[in-house]
Amino acid sequence: MPKRIPTQSLKGSETLTWYIPKMANEIESKRFLGHVMVVPYSTVGHSNPLLQFAKNLASKGFLVSFVSLHFDHSRMVKAREYLQRLSHGGPGLVQLEWIPDEIPPQVPRDHHIHPFLFHHMHNTMTGHGLESLLLRFNASPNPVSCVVYDSFLPWVPKIATKLSIPHAFFWTQSITVFSLYYHFKNVEKWDGERKLPETCNVPCLGEFKIGDLPGPFHREQDLKVRKVLDFFVDLESVTDASWVLVNSFEELETEALEYMKRLVRAPVITVGPSIPSAFLDRRNPEDTRFGAGADPWAGSEGTIRWLNSKPPLSVLYVSFGSITSVSPVQIRELAAGLERSQHSFLWVIRPPQGHHDLSALMPPGFLERIEERGLLVEWCVQLEVLSHPSVGAFMSHCGWNSTLDALCSGVPMLTLEVWTDQLTNAKCVEELWKTGRRMRKGEDGVVPMQEIERCVRSAMEEGVEFAEARKNSLKWKETAKGAMMPSGSSDVSLSRFTQELLAAIGTHWNSGQRIQ
Ligand code: UDX
Repeated sequence: MPKRIPTQSLKGSETLTWYIPKMANEIESKRFLGHVMVVPYSTVGHSNPLLQFAKNLASKGFLVSFVSLHFDHSRMVKAREYLQRLSHGGPGLVQLEWIPDEIPPQVPRDHHIHPFLFHHMHNTMTGHGLESLLLRFNASPNPVSCVVYDSFLPWVPKIATKLSIPHAFFWTQSITVFSLYYHFKNVEKWDGERKLPETCNVPCLGEFKIGDLPGPFHREQDLKVRKVLDFFVDLESVTDASWVLVNSFEELETEALEYMKRLVRAPVITVGPSIPSAFLDRRNPEDTRFGAGADPWAGSEGTIRWLNSKPPLSVLYVSFGSITSVSPVQIRELAAGLERSQHSFLWVIRPPQGHHDLSALMPPGFLERIEERGLLVEWCVQLEVLSHPSVGAFMSHCGWNSTLDALCSGVPMLTLEVWTDQLTNAKCVEELWKTGRRMRKGEDGVVPMQEIERCVRSAMEEGVEFAEARKNSLKWKETAKGAMMPSGSSDVSLSRFTQELLAAIGTHWNSGQRIQ
């Protein structure tokens, strides 16, 4: 067993893996195709797809250094043994590294996303720790050939450029959402002040009502809309990237991909769905988690046992991702609507910020009345739940990863979108892929209990509308699987990236110069 080192005792960009003799020997004795550094934005919705991408790259023979900010490393490091075990089958390896997070001591460092952390990771980090880490690697037998960075971290490509290392921009949301941001910002030159028309026509994407655009476009009450847009998507660095990687697949977003390819100079590489292999192509059946142990909340043991006791397609799975907060009023309406529907449900719910007692947010006596047919947990392994035969539908906030999880599991959706890309994803679910329906909100922005009851009944009792959604979901499940299989669209696309990367490494070795 590797010796455990408390993270607090590590300084600067020291790396945990280098404290594990077995691992260090393994790295030195292996001949990797190249060394890629992957830098995620430190939230679950971003680190999950990037960690999966890192594993897929390792399976092609690369050494991949997955670099977390220090405050998130204690979560990520729990995935270490799992990643080592997975890597043993193939030539490549994922190693976990961390760099200082530059967070002032008075700011709480936990995995609940604190507004300061959000802003800090995007705007104020200098990334000096990343520079030191890259320099140290460059003096080692495995210099870094490419830095893949989350598009929300604009300081990373600046450091890579300074050190003349090629870099790839990784977009974790949908291609449609990227194209909308890019179109309005760079083609329409929309500055956040001008009022957008109620309906807009976007090349290749067609007609979008303003309410279907990502959150920053119509949160006019924020007034600093432009700032919000910049805050979420700094698209400047895409222009210097050698590649643009996206967590989607060609068949799912054909038209949007066509537009994106026209918008950006660099090759667009579709690498998705970035989902553990056991739930998709099964090329590696042992790959059953993004990073086992790195799930942020423990304590959903018994969930699968509970699902096992339910008939096929009889349970509604309800979850709103890892950071999206549903208001107390909406929680109450949800509880009442779920109860009125009379259907079984598994609800992933954590108290919203400032509330500690969940039962106080529920209608009186709710928890006792639903005991037989409702299970409330703080967290579950979502893909395991969605692939369980008892689960019949998924009520979701439509985060991009949850949307892909549903498509890849063949489970139709009821959407309760809250902010950011979720509004656009929900439109695509209902209108483009036809794998579910949006629940209608009242004027106060809350979906009332009656609408919830009606939608849950329609989904679980499978009216004509939902039979179609289930059929389409199952079709997308097969298409998604096909994209990741050998010679599938994303597999071919990833191979293109690795071949171009190898060519770049070859150029570097031959000429002593890195290419941009
Ligand atoms: C955030 C944004 O809210 C979302 O809109 C954006 O697309 C990505 O960043 P998040 O809210 O966490 O993400 O949602 P989502 O994108 O759906 O990611 C959640 C991840 O956590 C998924 O990979 C899902 O499989 C996993 N998950 C979630 C669990 O494993 N268990 C749970 O109980 C809930």
